[in-house]
Amino acid sequence: MQRLLIKGKNKINGTINISGSKNASLPILAASILTKKLVLKNIPLVKDIFTMTDLLRFIGIKCQISKKKNLIKINNLKKNLNTVAPYKLVKTMRAGILVLGPLLAKFGKAKISLPGGCAIGSRPVDLHLMALKKLGARIKIKNGYIIAKSPGNLRGTNITFPKISVGATENAILAAFCAEGITTLNNCAIEPEVKDLIKFLNKIGGKIKFKNRKIIIVGTKKILNTSYKIMFDRIELGTYIIAAGICGKKIKFPNVDANLIKTEIKTLKKTGINISFDKNNLFVEGCEKLKKLNIKTEPYPGFPTDLQAQIMVLMTQAKGISKIKENIFENRFMHVSELKRMGAKINIRNNVATIEGPTNLSGAEVMATDLRASVSLVLAGLIAENRTIINRIYHLDRGYFSLEKKLKNCKANIKRI
Ligand code: EPZ
Repeated sequence: MQRLLIKGKNKINGTINISGSKNASLPILAASILTKKLVLKNIPLVKDIFTMTDLLRFIGIKCQISKKKNLIKINNLKKNLNTVAPYKLVKTMRAGILVLGPLLAKFGKAKISLPGGCAIGSRPVDLHLMALKKLGARIKIKNGYIIAKSPGNLRGTNITFPKISVGATENAILAAFCAEGITTLNNCAIEPEVKDLIKFLNKIGGKIKFKNRKIIIVGTKKILNTSYKIMFDRIELGTYIIAAGICGKKIKFPNVDANLIKTEIKTLKKTGINISFDKNNLFVEGCEKLKKLNIKTEPYPGFPTDLQAQIMVLMTQAKGISKIKENIFENRFMHVSELKRMGAKINIRNNVATIEGPTNLSGAEVMATDLRASVSLVLAGLIAENRTIINRIYHLDRGYFSLEKKLKNCKANIKRI
């Protein structure tokens, strides 16, 4: 089992290239079920992407990954696909549920393993199923599988989500893509990754518009071949901005769009981190005297839950008492016990974490529990005294491409052992 060894207290300095977005790539890869030939560029070569391409191959789609060029060539020329997503592939990557919408839309049937929960929460899919039923699908749950059928074509309709859900919004868009008539989705998630999916779908012939949290899809049968460049990963960027803030001299992030992370930049500037940007690049300078902060995680454009564990590490270095209210997932404080073993002063009450700073963290052997918790332990290791060893870094490899190389290039003392 691989581990990361970090020797803390090095200042990082230099340039970090941000990879393509995992959370934009996964729904767009699922959407490839609707297409014939595709080239997807700027794909992040992280574990979840390989799991999704394994799932697409299992379904019968040809996926050629070019690691050198960070691209995937999709050939989906078979008449009939295997409309099953098995437990062994969906259990390790919950986004496997996203093939449900496109399989149902194109073949009128799908059998998808229930994704089940994960470390951060029970992760129900009731909103996904509600939307598909409204589009005319018949759904039953049997032996841990979702068995969906649509007698005729799915039919456009009006759907209002009672709760904002990224995945349910994406599944509904994919299912409605070739439904008969017009589908209006209300109270949708508007994360940049959802918009990247819409941009991609419009490029293959879709007629999808959005205004605020309303998305209107005119069903279409005509599908074009295309090539598409995936957007940058704003959560990876946010993670490294925080790294720069807590132990950076000056870090440059080329080819990123600061407009997509306005809330994060506004929030992080309040802690004293110096963030500036020009048309295509972002510059961050570390701050010796970080200021405390109270935040709550919210759907976009609020502060993202996927940066909650990371900003908590920053708060351990800020002067005073900071608070984080986690509103999205019911169990997303798994990193707290490990951070406390490194000396952090954090208390949890219901879904609110109270963090006292500044505290000197000391290196320790710690264990990753989920993707974002694992990267918060890396951030803590970078500023802790002595050595930190992080176990179970397969969690990290699901969503961060070549993390230790990117940090080592900026003079961090980090290696995989
Ligand atoms: C997406 O997960 C992301 N994953 C998550 O990133 C991210 O944390 C999350 O959105 C919130 O932004 C991908 O895009 C692959 P949700 P998703 O449906 O779609 C509840 C990472 O670290 N809910 O927006 O699963 C749910 O329990 C991952 O990269 C229902 O109740 O999130 C949660 O409390 C982690 N019923 C809330 O909604 C449903 O049917 C938001 O979940 C679906 C969700």
